[in-house]
Amino acid sequence: AGFFKKAWRATYISAIVGAGAFAYVIYDDRHPENQLPADPSKKTLVVLGSGWASTSLLKSLDTENYNVVVVSPRNYFLFTPLLPSTPTGTIELRSIMQPIRHILRHKKAAVNFFEAEATEIDHENKILKIRDNSDVTGDVKENSIKYDYLVVGCGAETQTFGIPGVEEFGCFLKEIWDAQKIRTRIMDCVEAALFKDQTPEEKKRLLHTVVVGGGPTGIEFAAELADFLEEDLRRWYPEIKDDYQVTLIEAMTNVLPMFSKKLIQYTEDTFAEQNITIHTKTMVKSVDEKYISVSVTKPDGTSELQKIPYGLLVWAGGNKPRKVVVDIMKKLPAQKNARRGLSVNDYLVVEGCEGIWALGDASQTKYAPTAQVAAQQGAYLGRLFNSMARTHSLEADIAYLQSQLAVTPVDAPARAGLEAELEAVGKALSRTKQMSPFHYSHQGSLAYIGSDKAIADLQLPFMKDLFSSGGAATYLFWRSAYVSNLFSLRNKTLVVFDWVKVKMFGRDVSREG
Ligand code: FAD
Ligand code: NAI
Repeated sequence: AGFFKKAWRATYISAIVGAGAFAYVIYDDRHPENQLPADPSKKTLVVLGSGWASTSLLKSLDTENYNVVVVSPRNYFLFTPLLPSTPTGTIELRSIMQPIRHILRHKKAAVNFFEAEATEIDHENKILKIRDNSDVTGDVKENSIKYDYLVVGCGAETQTFGIPGVEEFGCFLKEIWDAQKIRTRIMDCVEAALFKDQTPEEKKRLLHTVVVGGGPTGIEFAAELADFLEEDLRRWYPEIKDDYQVTLIEAMTNVLPMFSKKLIQYTEDTFAEQNITIHTKTMVKSVDEKYISVSVTKPDGTSELQKIPYGLLVWAGGNKPRKVVVDIMKKLPAQKNARRGLSVNDYLVVEGCEGIWALGDASQTKYAPTAQVAAQQGAYLGRLFNSMARTHSLEADIAYLQSQLAVTPVDAPARAGLEAELEAVGKALSRTKQMSPFHYSHQGSLAYIGSDKAIADLQLPFMKDLFSSGGAATYLFWRSAYVSNLFSLRNKTLVVFDWVKVKMFGRDVSREG
Protein backbone atom coordinates (compact mmCIF):
# COMPACT_ATOMS: atom_id res chain seq x y z
CA ALA A 1 0.00 0.00 0.00
CA GLY A 2 2.96 2.34 0.79
CA PHE A 3 4.38 1.79 -2.71
CA PHE A 4 1.06 2.65 -4.40
CA LYS A 5 0.67 5.72 -2.22
CA LYS A 6 4.16 6.95 -3.20
CA ALA A 7 3.59 6.18 -6.89
CA TRP A 8 0.26 8.01 -6.79
CA ARG A 9 1.87 11.02 -5.08
CA ALA A 10 4.73 11.08 -7.66
CA THR A 11 2.24 10.91 -10.54
CA TYR A 12 0.11 13.61 -8.96
CA ILE A 13 3.11 15.92 -8.43
CA SER A 14 4.45 15.32 -11.98
CA ALA A 15 0.99 16.07 -13.44
CA ILE A 16 0.82 19.37 -11.51
CA VAL A 17 4.40 20.33 -12.52
CA GLY A 18 3.68 19.35 -16.16
CA ALA A 19 0.43 21.34 -16.25
CA GLY A 20 2.21 24.30 -14.64
CA ALA A 21 5.02 24.19 -17.22
CA PHE A 22 2.45 23.91 -20.06
CA ALA A 23 0.49 26.89 -18.68
CA TYR A 24 3.71 28.90 -18.30
CA VAL A 25 4.76 28.25 -21.93
CA ILE A 26 1.30 29.36 -23.13
CA TYR A 27 1.37 32.45 -20.90
CA ASP A 28 4.92 33.34 -21.95
CA ASP A 29 4.04 32.94 -25.63
CA ARG A 30 1.07 35.30 -25.32
CA HIS A 31 2.80 37.87 -23.10
CA PRO A 32 6.10 38.81 -24.69
CA GLU A 33 8.38 41.15 -22.76
CA ASN A 34 8.77 44.79 -23.76
CA GLN A 35 11.24 45.16 -26.61
CA LEU A 36 14.11 47.57 -27.17
CA PRO A 37 13.10 49.92 -30.00
CA ALA A 38 14.57 49.34 -33.47
CA ASP A 39 17.67 51.52 -33.87
CA PRO A 40 18.12 53.01 -37.39
CA SER A 41 21.60 54.30 -36.42
CA LYS A 42 22.85 50.70 -36.42
CA LYS A 43 23.78 48.82 -39.58
CA THR A 44 20.64 47.88 -41.51
CA LEU A 45 20.26 44.15 -42.02
CA VAL A 46 17.46 43.30 -44.46
CA VAL A 47 16.16 39.73 -44.49
CA LEU A 48 14.04 38.50 -47.42
CA GLY A 49 11.44 35.85 -46.69
CA SER A 50 9.63 34.33 -43.73
CA GLY A 51 10.26 30.68 -44.58
CA TRP A 52 12.54 28.04 -43.13
CA ALA A 53 15.82 29.82 -43.79
CA SER A 54 14.86 33.33 -42.70
CA THR A 55 12.90 32.41 -39.56
CA SER A 56 15.71 30.15 -38.43
CA LEU A 57 18.12 33.05 -38.91
CA LEU A 58 15.79 35.40 -37.01
CA LYS A 59 15.52 32.91 -34.15
CA SER A 60 19.27 32.82 -33.59
CA LEU A 61 19.98 36.48 -34.38
CA ASP A 62 20.59 38.98 -31.54
CA THR A 63 18.41 41.69 -33.06
CA GLU A 64 19.70 44.42 -30.73
CA ASN A 65 22.95 44.52 -32.74
CA TYR A 66 21.34 45.61 -36.02
CA ASN A 67 18.50 47.61 -37.46
CA VAL A 68 16.69 44.51 -38.71
CA VAL A 69 14.08 44.71 -41.46
CA VAL A 70 12.18 41.67 -42.75
CA VAL A 71 10.46 41.73 -46.14
CA SER A 72 8.14 38.91 -47.20
CA PRO A 73 4.91 38.74 -49.22
CA ARG A 74 3.39 36.43 -46.60
CA ASN A 75 3.21 37.42 -42.94
CA TYR A 76 3.62 33.90 -41.60
CA PHE A 77 5.95 30.95 -41.48
CA LEU A 78 4.64 27.80 -43.20
CA PHE A 79 5.63 24.32 -41.99
CA THR A 80 5.91 22.81 -45.50
CA PRO A 81 6.54 19.17 -44.47
CA LEU A 82 2.87 18.88 -43.50
CA LEU A 83 1.53 20.87 -46.46
CA PRO A 84 0.72 17.70 -48.49
CA SER A 85 -1.72 16.71 -45.71
CA THR A 86 -3.77 19.91 -46.09
CA PRO A 87 -5.53 19.63 -49.49
CA THR A 88 -7.43 16.58 -48.26
CA GLY A 89 -8.21 18.14 -44.88
CA THR A 90 -6.12 15.72 -42.80
CA ILE A 91 -4.53 18.84 -41.36
CA GLU A 92 -6.01 22.33 -41.41
CA LEU A 93 -3.87 25.08 -42.91
CA ARG A 94 -3.91 27.32 -39.83
CA SER A 95 -2.38 24.50 -37.82
CA ILE A 96 0.89 24.73 -39.76
CA MET A 97 1.11 28.54 -40.03
CA GLN A 98 2.89 30.70 -37.48
CA PRO A 99 2.46 34.50 -37.70
CA ILE A 100 5.78 36.22 -38.32
CA ARG A 101 4.68 38.99 -35.92
CA HIS A 102 4.70 36.44 -33.07
CA ILE A 103 8.19 35.35 -33.98
CA LEU A 104 9.50 38.91 -34.25
CA ARG A 105 7.69 40.14 -31.14
CA HIS A 106 9.65 37.67 -29.02
CA LYS A 107 13.02 39.14 -30.04
CA LYS A 108 14.92 41.37 -27.62
CA ALA A 109 14.93 44.38 -29.97
CA ALA A 110 12.07 45.28 -32.31
CA VAL A 111 12.25 44.27 -35.96
CA ASN A 112 10.47 46.07 -38.80
CA PHE A 113 8.37 43.82 -41.01
CA PHE A 114 6.98 44.80 -44.42
CA GLU A 115 4.52 42.50 -46.15
CA ALA A 116 5.90 42.99 -49.63
CA GLU A 117 7.85 41.32 -52.39
CA ALA A 118 11.44 42.23 -53.08
CA THR A 119 11.38 43.21 -56.75
CA GLU A 120 14.94 44.37 -57.43
CA ILE A 121 18.32 44.25 -55.73
CA ASP A 122 20.64 47.11 -56.69
CA HIS A 123 23.84 45.53 -55.35
CA GLU A 124 26.07 48.44 -56.40
CA ASN A 125 24.15 51.07 -54.40
CA LYS A 126 22.89 48.60 -51.79
CA ILE A 127 19.25 49.44 -52.39
CA LEU A 128 16.36 46.99 -52.32
CA LYS A 129 13.12 47.76 -54.14
CA ILE A 130 9.93 46.38 -52.62
CA ARG A 131 6.28 46.23 -53.72
CA ASP A 132 3.09 45.43 -51.84
CA ASN A 133 1.40 42.94 -54.18
CA SER A 134 -1.54 42.10 -51.96
CA ASP A 135 -5.18 42.72 -52.91
CA VAL A 136 -5.50 45.63 -50.48
CA THR A 137 -2.86 48.33 -50.64
CA GLY A 138 -2.53 51.93 -49.52
CA ASP A 139 -1.46 54.86 -51.68
CA VAL A 140 2.15 53.85 -51.12
CA LYS A 141 2.71 50.38 -52.44
CA GLU A 142 6.23 50.63 -53.80
CA ASN A 143 9.30 51.71 -51.90
CA SER A 144 12.99 51.09 -51.46
CA ILE A 145 15.24 50.25 -48.52
CA LYS A 146 18.91 51.15 -48.19
CA TYR A 147 20.72 48.19 -46.66
CA ASP A 148 24.18 47.50 -45.30
CA TYR A 149 23.67 43.74 -45.30
CA LEU A 150 21.12 41.74 -47.27
CA VAL A 151 20.08 38.14 -46.70
CA VAL A 152 18.27 36.49 -49.61
CA GLY A 153 16.01 33.79 -48.15
CA CYS A 154 13.11 34.12 -50.56
CA GLY A 155 12.89 30.42 -51.48
CA ALA A 156 12.05 29.13 -54.95
CA GLU A 157 9.08 28.72 -57.29
CA THR A 158 7.65 25.56 -58.81
CA GLN A 159 9.50 24.46 -61.94
CA THR A 160 7.34 24.00 -65.02
CA PHE A 161 10.12 24.02 -67.66
CA GLY A 162 7.80 26.30 -69.65
CA ILE A 163 5.64 23.27 -70.58
CA PRO A 164 2.50 24.65 -72.26
CA GLY A 165 -0.67 24.53 -70.17
CA VAL A 166 0.91 23.60 -66.83
CA GLU A 167 0.52 27.03 -65.21
CA GLU A 168 -2.97 27.47 -66.66
CA PHE A 169 -4.51 24.07 -65.93
CA GLY A 170 -2.37 22.53 -63.20
CA CYS A 171 -2.27 23.09 -59.44
CA PHE A 172 1.05 23.47 -57.64
CA LEU A 173 1.66 22.44 -54.03
CA LYS A 174 3.96 25.02 -52.52
CA GLU A 175 1.85 27.65 -50.82
CA ILE A 176 -1.31 27.93 -48.75
CA TRP A 177 -3.40 29.05 -51.72
CA ASP A 178 -2.21 26.05 -53.76
CA ALA A 179 -3.51 23.68 -51.08
CA GLN A 180 -6.84 25.59 -50.97
CA LYS A 181 -7.17 25.40 -54.75
CA ILE A 182 -6.53 21.64 -54.79
CA ARG A 183 -9.03 21.08 -51.98
CA THR A 184 -11.73 22.91 -53.92
CA ARG A 185 -10.89 21.12 -57.16
CA ILE A 186 -11.00 17.62 -55.66
CA MET A 187 -14.58 18.16 -54.51
CA ASP A 188 -15.52 20.06 -57.70
CA CYS A 189 -14.35 17.11 -59.81
CA VAL A 190 -16.34 14.65 -57.70
CA GLU A 191 -19.56 16.68 -57.81
CA ALA A 192 -19.19 17.43 -61.54
CA ALA A 193 -18.68 13.71 -62.21
CA LEU A 194 -21.97 13.02 -60.46
CA PHE A 195 -23.92 15.69 -62.36
CA LYS A 196 -27.18 14.48 -63.87
CA ASP A 197 -26.62 12.41 -67.01
CA GLN A 198 -22.84 12.83 -67.01
CA THR A 199 -21.40 10.48 -69.65
CA PRO A 200 -19.33 7.52 -68.35
CA GLU A 201 -16.19 8.76 -70.18
CA GLU A 202 -16.55 12.25 -68.75
CA LYS A 203 -17.17 10.82 -65.28
CA LYS A 204 -13.97 8.76 -65.58
CA ARG A 205 -12.01 11.78 -66.79
CA LEU A 206 -13.22 14.01 -63.96
CA LEU A 207 -12.40 11.34 -61.41
CA HIS A 208 -8.85 10.90 -62.67
CA THR A 209 -6.28 12.82 -60.62
CA VAL A 210 -2.83 12.97 -62.15
CA VAL A 211 0.16 13.91 -60.03
CA VAL A 212 3.26 14.89 -61.98
CA GLY A 213 6.61 14.51 -60.22
CA GLY A 214 7.84 11.48 -58.32
CA GLY A 215 9.80 13.57 -55.81
CA PRO A 216 8.62 13.63 -52.18
CA THR A 217 5.98 16.35 -52.82
CA GLY A 218 4.22 14.31 -55.51
CA ILE A 219 4.52 11.04 -53.59
CA GLU A 220 3.20 12.47 -50.31
CA PHE A 221 0.27 14.20 -51.98
CA ALA A 222 -0.72 11.07 -53.96
CA ALA A 223 -0.55 9.08 -50.71
CA GLU A 224 -2.75 11.57 -48.84
CA LEU A 225 -5.28 11.56 -51.69
CA ALA A 226 -5.44 7.75 -51.68
CA ASP A 227 -6.15 7.86 -47.91
CA PHE A 228 -8.91 10.42 -48.45
CA LEU A 229 -10.44 8.29 -51.16
CA GLU A 230 -10.28 5.09 -49.14
CA GLU A 231 -11.33 6.45 -45.75
CA ASP A 232 -13.84 9.17 -46.66
CA LEU A 233 -14.80 9.74 -50.30
CA ARG A 234 -15.77 6.09 -50.95
CA ARG A 235 -18.02 6.18 -47.87
CA TRP A 236 -19.89 9.39 -48.73
CA TYR A 237 -19.82 8.92 -52.52
CA PRO A 238 -20.29 5.17 -53.09
CA GLU A 239 -21.10 5.96 -56.76
CA ILE A 240 -17.47 6.89 -57.49
CA LYS A 241 -15.96 3.83 -55.83
CA ASP A 242 -14.83 2.10 -59.01
CA ASP A 243 -14.09 5.17 -61.12
CA TYR A 244 -11.77 7.32 -58.99
CA GLN A 245 -8.21 6.83 -60.16
CA VAL A 246 -4.90 8.31 -59.03
CA THR A 247 -1.89 8.26 -61.38
CA LEU A 248 1.62 9.47 -60.68
CA ILE A 249 3.81 10.43 -63.61
CA GLU A 250 7.60 10.63 -63.38
CA ALA A 251 10.08 11.36 -66.17
CA MET A 252 12.97 9.44 -64.60
CA THR A 253 13.37 5.66 -64.17
CA ASN A 254 12.11 5.66 -60.59
CA VAL A 255 10.44 7.80 -57.96
CA LEU A 256 12.12 9.28 -54.86
CA PRO A 257 15.73 9.23 -56.08
CA MET A 258 16.95 10.59 -52.71
CA PHE A 259 15.82 7.43 -50.87
CA SER A 260 17.54 4.04 -50.74
CA LYS A 261 16.58 1.41 -53.37
CA LYS A 262 14.86 -0.72 -50.74
CA LEU A 263 12.53 2.12 -49.75
CA ILE A 264 11.80 3.06 -53.37
CA GLN A 265 10.63 -0.52 -53.94
CA TYR A 266 8.62 -0.44 -50.70
CA THR A 267 6.91 2.79 -51.81
CA GLU A 268 6.08 1.38 -55.24
CA ASP A 269 4.61 -1.78 -53.65
CA THR A 270 2.57 0.27 -51.15
CA PHE A 271 1.25 2.47 -53.97
CA ALA A 272 0.24 -0.63 -55.94
CA GLU A 273 -1.76 -1.86 -52.91
CA GLN A 274 -3.48 1.54 -52.77
CA ASN A 275 -4.30 1.40 -56.51
CA ILE A 276 -2.09 4.37 -57.32
CA THR A 277 -0.64 3.79 -60.77
CA ILE A 278 2.96 4.93 -61.26
CA HIS A 279 4.18 5.71 -64.79
CA THR A 280 7.94 6.20 -64.81
CA LYS A 281 9.99 7.19 -67.89
CA THR A 282 6.99 9.29 -68.85
CA MET A 283 7.52 12.95 -69.58
CA VAL A 284 4.75 15.51 -69.72
CA LYS A 285 5.00 17.57 -72.91
CA SER A 286 1.88 19.72 -72.78
CA VAL A 287 -1.41 20.10 -70.98
CA ASP A 288 -4.79 21.31 -72.15
CA GLU A 289 -8.13 21.62 -70.39
CA LYS A 290 -8.89 17.89 -70.49
CA TYR A 291 -5.78 16.00 -71.60
CA ILE A 292 -2.15 15.65 -70.63
CA SER A 293 0.19 14.80 -73.52
CA VAL A 294 3.09 12.63 -72.46
CA SER A 295 6.06 11.03 -74.11
CA VAL A 296 6.58 7.46 -72.86
CA THR A 297 9.99 5.85 -73.25
CA LYS A 298 9.47 2.18 -74.11
CA PRO A 299 11.82 -0.70 -73.11
CA ASP A 300 13.42 -0.70 -76.59
CA GLY A 301 14.39 2.97 -76.14
CA THR A 302 11.85 4.41 -78.58
CA SER A 303 9.26 6.85 -77.36
CA GLU A 304 5.57 7.10 -77.93
CA LEU A 305 3.18 10.04 -77.52
CA GLN A 306 0.05 9.41 -75.45
CA LYS A 307 -2.89 11.51 -74.28
CA ILE A 308 -4.15 11.05 -70.75
CA PRO A 309 -7.60 12.42 -69.82
CA TYR A 310 -7.61 14.06 -66.40
CA GLY A 311 -9.89 15.97 -64.03
CA LEU A 312 -7.30 17.32 -61.59
CA LEU A 313 -3.60 17.85 -62.30
CA VAL A 314 -1.25 18.41 -59.37
CA TRP A 315 2.15 19.53 -60.59
CA ALA A 316 5.15 18.81 -58.35
CA GLY A 317 7.94 19.19 -60.87
CA GLY A 318 10.64 20.62 -58.57
CA ASN A 319 12.11 24.08 -58.01
CA LYS A 320 13.25 27.04 -60.09
CA PRO A 321 14.67 30.36 -58.81
CA ARG A 322 12.40 33.37 -58.25
CA LYS A 323 12.52 36.34 -60.63
CA VAL A 324 14.28 38.66 -58.15
CA VAL A 325 17.00 36.01 -57.76
CA VAL A 326 17.30 35.38 -61.52
CA ASP A 327 17.65 39.15 -62.12
CA ILE A 328 20.58 39.55 -59.70
CA MET A 329 22.17 36.34 -61.02
CA LYS A 330 22.13 37.88 -64.50
CA LYS A 331 23.81 41.05 -63.24
CA LEU A 332 26.76 39.23 -61.65
CA PRO A 333 29.39 37.63 -63.93
CA ALA A 334 30.45 35.36 -61.01
CA GLN A 335 26.98 33.78 -61.16
CA LYS A 336 27.15 32.75 -64.81
CA ASN A 337 27.20 29.01 -63.94
CA ALA A 338 24.53 29.24 -61.24
CA ARG A 339 21.27 27.55 -62.19
CA ARG A 340 19.24 26.54 -59.16
CA GLY A 341 19.82 29.77 -57.19
CA LEU A 342 22.53 32.18 -56.10
CA SER A 343 25.92 30.53 -55.89
CA VAL A 344 27.48 31.16 -52.46
CA ASN A 345 30.82 30.46 -50.75
CA ASP A 346 31.28 28.37 -47.59
CA TYR A 347 30.11 31.32 -45.48
CA LEU A 348 26.94 31.71 -47.59
CA VAL A 349 28.23 34.98 -49.08
CA VAL A 350 26.89 35.49 -52.61
CA GLU A 351 29.74 35.08 -55.10
CA GLY A 352 30.63 38.24 -56.97
CA CYS A 353 29.19 40.95 -54.72
CA GLU A 354 29.59 42.46 -51.29
CA GLY A 355 27.21 42.50 -48.35
CA ILE A 356 24.76 39.89 -49.69
CA TRP A 357 24.23 36.40 -48.32
CA ALA A 358 21.88 33.74 -49.72
CA LEU A 359 20.51 30.58 -48.15
CA GLY A 360 17.82 27.93 -48.44
CA ASP A 361 16.12 27.28 -51.77
CA ALA A 362 17.24 30.71 -53.07
CA SER A 363 20.86 29.53 -53.01
CA GLN A 364 22.82 26.95 -54.96
CA THR A 365 25.01 24.75 -52.81
CA LYS A 366 26.06 21.11 -52.86
CA TYR A 367 23.08 20.26 -50.66
CA ALA A 368 19.49 19.40 -51.66
CA PRO A 369 16.93 22.21 -51.41
CA THR A 370 15.31 21.02 -48.18
CA ALA A 371 13.92 22.57 -45.01
CA GLN A 372 16.64 20.77 -43.07
CA VAL A 373 19.39 22.51 -45.02
CA ALA A 374 17.61 25.89 -44.98
CA ALA A 375 17.07 25.79 -41.21
CA GLN A 376 20.69 24.88 -40.48
CA GLN A 377 21.93 27.58 -42.84
CA GLY A 378 19.65 30.13 -41.15
CA ALA A 379 20.88 29.24 -37.67
CA TYR A 380 24.48 29.42 -38.93
CA LEU A 381 23.96 32.83 -40.51
CA GLY A 382 22.33 34.17 -37.32
CA ARG A 383 25.44 33.12 -35.39
CA LEU A 384 27.65 34.65 -38.10
CA PHE A 385 25.89 38.02 -37.77
CA ASN A 386 26.10 37.85 -33.96
CA SER A 387 29.79 37.18 -34.30
CA MET A 388 30.21 40.06 -36.78
CA ALA A 389 28.49 42.43 -34.33
CA ARG A 390 30.74 41.21 -31.52
CA THR A 391 33.78 41.72 -33.78
CA HIS A 392 32.76 45.33 -34.45
CA SER A 393 32.21 45.96 -30.76
CA LEU A 394 35.59 44.42 -29.82
CA GLU A 395 37.31 46.42 -32.56
CA ALA A 396 35.75 49.59 -31.13
CA ASP A 397 37.00 48.58 -27.65
CA ILE A 398 40.51 48.08 -29.02
CA ALA A 399 40.46 51.46 -30.76
CA TYR A 400 39.29 53.09 -27.51
CA LEU A 401 41.98 51.37 -25.37
CA GLN A 402 44.65 52.27 -27.91
CA SER A 403 43.54 55.91 -27.87
CA GLN A 404 43.66 55.90 -24.06
CA LEU A 405 47.19 54.56 -24.13
CA ALA A 406 48.24 57.10 -26.75
CA VAL A 407 46.78 60.34 -25.46
CA THR A 408 46.25 60.04 -21.72
CA PRO A 409 49.35 60.42 -19.55
CA VAL A 410 49.01 57.23 -17.51
CA ASP A 411 51.19 55.95 -14.70
CA ALA A 412 52.91 52.56 -15.01
CA PRO A 413 50.33 50.39 -13.16
CA ALA A 414 47.43 51.98 -15.05
CA ARG A 415 49.31 51.50 -18.34
CA ALA A 416 49.94 47.83 -17.48
CA GLY A 417 46.23 47.45 -16.71
CA LEU A 418 45.23 49.00 -20.05
CA GLU A 419 47.74 46.83 -21.91
CA ALA A 420 46.45 43.67 -20.20
CA GLU A 421 42.90 44.65 -21.11
CA LEU A 422 43.97 45.34 -24.69
CA GLU A 423 45.58 41.91 -24.94
CA ALA A 424 42.47 40.20 -23.53
CA VAL A 425 40.21 42.03 -25.97
CA GLY A 426 42.62 41.21 -28.82
CA LYS A 427 42.42 37.51 -27.94
CA ALA A 428 38.63 37.64 -27.72
CA LEU A 429 38.60 39.32 -31.13
CA SER A 430 40.72 36.65 -32.80
CA ARG A 431 38.52 33.94 -31.23
CA THR A 432 35.37 35.67 -32.52
CA LYS A 433 36.83 36.08 -35.99
CA GLN A 434 37.50 32.34 -36.23
CA MET A 435 33.98 31.56 -37.38
CA SER A 436 34.11 28.24 -39.18
CA PRO A 437 32.41 27.75 -42.55
CA PHE A 438 28.89 26.33 -42.78
CA HIS A 439 28.73 22.63 -42.10
CA TYR A 440 25.56 20.65 -42.83
CA SER A 441 24.64 17.76 -40.60
CA HIS A 442 22.20 15.43 -42.37
CA GLN A 443 19.66 13.86 -40.02
CA GLY A 444 17.99 11.74 -42.71
CA SER A 445 14.96 11.78 -45.01
CA LEU A 446 11.38 11.00 -44.15
CA ALA A 447 8.24 10.72 -46.26
CA TYR A 448 4.63 9.64 -45.80
CA ILE A 449 3.51 7.02 -48.36
CA GLY A 450 -0.12 6.42 -47.33
CA SER A 451 -2.13 3.76 -45.42
CA ASP A 452 -0.47 4.87 -42.16
CA LYS A 453 2.99 3.99 -43.48
CA ALA A 454 6.08 6.14 -43.82
CA ILE A 455 9.65 5.62 -45.03
CA ALA A 456 12.83 6.87 -43.40
CA ASP A 457 16.51 6.88 -44.26
CA LEU A 458 18.06 8.01 -41.01
CA GLN A 459 21.58 9.02 -40.15
CA LEU A 460 22.03 7.52 -36.70
CA PRO A 461 25.00 8.72 -34.63
CA PHE A 462 26.47 5.25 -34.06
CA MET A 463 26.07 4.02 -37.67
CA LYS A 464 28.20 4.82 -40.71
CA ASP A 465 25.50 3.96 -43.26
CA LEU A 466 21.94 5.20 -43.34
CA PHE A 467 19.39 3.22 -41.35
CA SER A 468 16.38 2.51 -43.61
CA SER A 469 12.95 1.62 -42.38
CA GLY A 470 9.40 1.66 -43.68
CA GLY A 471 5.96 0.84 -42.32
CA ALA A 472 3.59 1.66 -39.48
CA ALA A 473 6.29 2.10 -36.80
CA THR A 474 8.15 4.51 -39.08
CA TYR A 475 4.87 6.37 -39.49
CA LEU A 476 4.66 6.89 -35.73
CA PHE A 477 8.25 8.13 -35.81
CA TRP A 478 7.37 10.42 -38.77
CA ARG A 479 4.48 11.88 -36.78
CA SER A 480 6.48 12.46 -33.61
CA ALA A 481 9.43 13.93 -35.57
CA TYR A 482 7.16 16.41 -37.35
CA VAL A 483 5.22 17.36 -34.22
CA SER A 484 8.42 18.03 -32.31
CA ASN A 485 9.73 20.19 -35.18
CA LEU A 486 6.60 22.32 -35.50
CA PHE A 487 7.22 25.96 -34.70
CA SER A 488 5.17 26.58 -31.59
CA LEU A 489 3.22 24.81 -28.87
CA ARG A 490 0.08 26.16 -30.55
CA ASN A 491 1.03 24.49 -33.88
CA LYS A 492 1.90 21.22 -32.14
CA THR A 493 -1.43 21.19 -30.27
CA LEU A 494 -3.48 22.04 -33.38
CA VAL A 495 -1.81 19.36 -35.51
CA VAL A 496 -2.39 16.68 -32.87
CA PHE A 497 -6.04 17.82 -32.56
CA ASP A 498 -6.40 17.60 -36.35
CA TRP A 499 -5.13 14.02 -36.38
CA VAL A 500 -7.46 13.05 -33.54
CA LYS A 501 -10.36 14.86 -35.24
CA VAL A 502 -9.84 12.95 -38.51
CA LYS A 503 -9.64 9.61 -36.67
CA MET A 504 -12.91 10.38 -34.82
CA PHE A 505 -15.03 12.15 -37.43
CA GLY A 506 -13.24 11.57 -40.76
CA ARG A 507 -12.32 14.30 -43.23
CA ASP A 508 -14.73 17.00 -44.32
CA VAL A 509 -16.06 16.46 -47.85
CA SER A 510 -17.55 19.95 -48.23
CA ARG A 511 -16.12 22.10 -50.98
CA GLU A 512 -13.60 24.72 -49.87
CA GLY A 513 -15.19 28.06 -50.75
P1 FAD B 1 10.62 28.98 -48.11
O1 FAD B 1 10.38 28.21 -46.90
O2 FAD B 1 9.85 28.66 -49.35
O3 FAD B 1 10.44 30.51 -47.77
C1 FAD B 1 10.59 31.52 -48.73
C2 FAD B 1 10.02 32.79 -48.16
O4 FAD B 1 10.32 33.88 -49.03
C3 FAD B 1 8.52 32.78 -48.00
O5 FAD B 1 8.15 33.41 -46.81
C4 FAD B 1 8.03 33.57 -49.20
O6 FAD B 1 6.77 34.17 -48.99
C5 FAD B 1 9.13 34.62 -49.28
N1 FAD B 1 9.25 35.27 -50.61
C6 FAD B 1 8.83 34.82 -51.80
N2 FAD B 1 9.11 35.72 -52.76
C7 FAD B 1 9.71 36.76 -52.15
C8 FAD B 1 10.21 38.01 -52.60
N3 FAD B 1 10.17 38.37 -53.90
N4 FAD B 1 10.74 38.85 -51.68
C9 FAD B 1 10.77 38.52 -50.37
N5 FAD B 1 10.32 37.35 -49.89
C10 FAD B 1 9.80 36.48 -50.77
N6 FAD B 1 11.97 19.78 -46.84
C11 FAD B 1 12.36 18.92 -45.87
O7 FAD B 1 13.51 18.98 -45.43
N7 FAD B 1 11.48 18.02 -45.34
C12 FAD B 1 10.21 17.94 -45.74
O8 FAD B 1 9.45 17.11 -45.27
C13 FAD B 1 9.76 18.84 -46.75
N8 FAD B 1 8.49 18.80 -47.20
C14 FAD B 1 8.09 19.67 -48.17
C15 FAD B 1 6.78 19.60 -48.62
C16 FAD B 1 6.35 20.45 -49.62
C17 FAD B 1 4.94 20.38 -50.11
C18 FAD B 1 7.24 21.40 -50.17
C19 FAD B 1 6.77 22.34 -51.25
C20 FAD B 1 8.55 21.46 -49.74
C21 FAD B 1 8.99 20.59 -48.74
N9 FAD B 1 10.29 20.61 -48.28
C22 FAD B 1 10.70 19.76 -47.28
C23 FAD B 1 11.25 21.56 -48.84
C24 FAD B 1 11.29 22.81 -47.96
O9 FAD B 1 10.00 23.32 -47.78
C25 FAD B 1 12.14 23.90 -48.59
O10 FAD B 1 13.41 23.40 -48.88
C26 FAD B 1 12.23 25.06 -47.63
O11 FAD B 1 10.97 25.66 -47.50
C27 FAD B 1 13.24 26.08 -48.09
O12 FAD B 1 13.24 27.12 -47.18
P2 FAD B 1 13.41 28.63 -47.67
O13 FAD B 1 13.36 29.48 -46.45
O14 FAD B 1 14.58 28.74 -48.56
O15 FAD B 1 12.14 28.89 -48.57
P1 NAI C 1 11.75 17.17 -56.86
O1 NAI C 1 12.70 18.01 -57.62
O2 NAI C 1 12.28 16.33 -55.77
O3 NAI C 1 10.98 16.19 -57.85
C1 NAI C 1 10.38 16.64 -59.03
C2 NAI C 1 10.19 15.46 -59.95
O4 NAI C 1 9.38 15.85 -61.04
C3 NAI C 1 11.50 14.95 -60.51
O5 NAI C 1 11.65 13.61 -60.16
C4 NAI C 1 11.37 15.17 -61.99
O6 NAI C 1 11.97 14.14 -62.75
C5 NAI C 1 9.86 15.18 -62.17
N1 NAI C 1 9.46 15.94 -63.37
C6 NAI C 1 9.79 17.22 -63.68
N2 NAI C 1 9.25 17.56 -64.86
C7 NAI C 1 8.56 16.50 -65.32
C8 NAI C 1 7.80 16.26 -66.49
N3 NAI C 1 7.65 17.16 -67.47
N4 NAI C 1 7.21 15.05 -66.62
C9 NAI C 1 7.36 14.11 -65.66
N5 NAI C 1 8.07 14.29 -64.55
C10 NAI C 1 8.67 15.46 -64.37
O7 NAI C 1 10.59 18.16 -56.37
P2 NAI C 1 9.72 18.13 -55.05
O8 NAI C 1 9.16 16.80 -54.78
O9 NAI C 1 8.78 19.26 -55.15
O10 NAI C 1 10.77 18.46 -53.91
C11 NAI C 1 11.47 19.71 -53.91
C12 NAI C 1 12.49 19.68 -52.77
O11 NAI C 1 11.81 19.63 -51.52
C13 NAI C 1 13.41 18.47 -52.82
O12 NAI C 1 14.70 18.82 -52.42
C14 NAI C 1 12.80 17.54 -51.81
O13 NAI C 1 13.77 16.70 -51.22
C15 NAI C 1 12.21 18.49 -50.79
N6 NAI C 1 11.04 17.85 -50.19
C16 NAI C 1 11.28 16.96 -49.19
C17 NAI C 1 10.22 16.27 -48.61
C18 NAI C 1 10.52 15.26 -47.56
O14 NAI C 1 11.65 15.14 -47.13
N7 NAI C 1 9.54 14.53 -47.09
C19 NAI C 1 8.83 16.50 -49.02
C20 NAI C 1 8.70 17.43 -50.14
C21 NAI C 1 9.78 18.07 -50.67
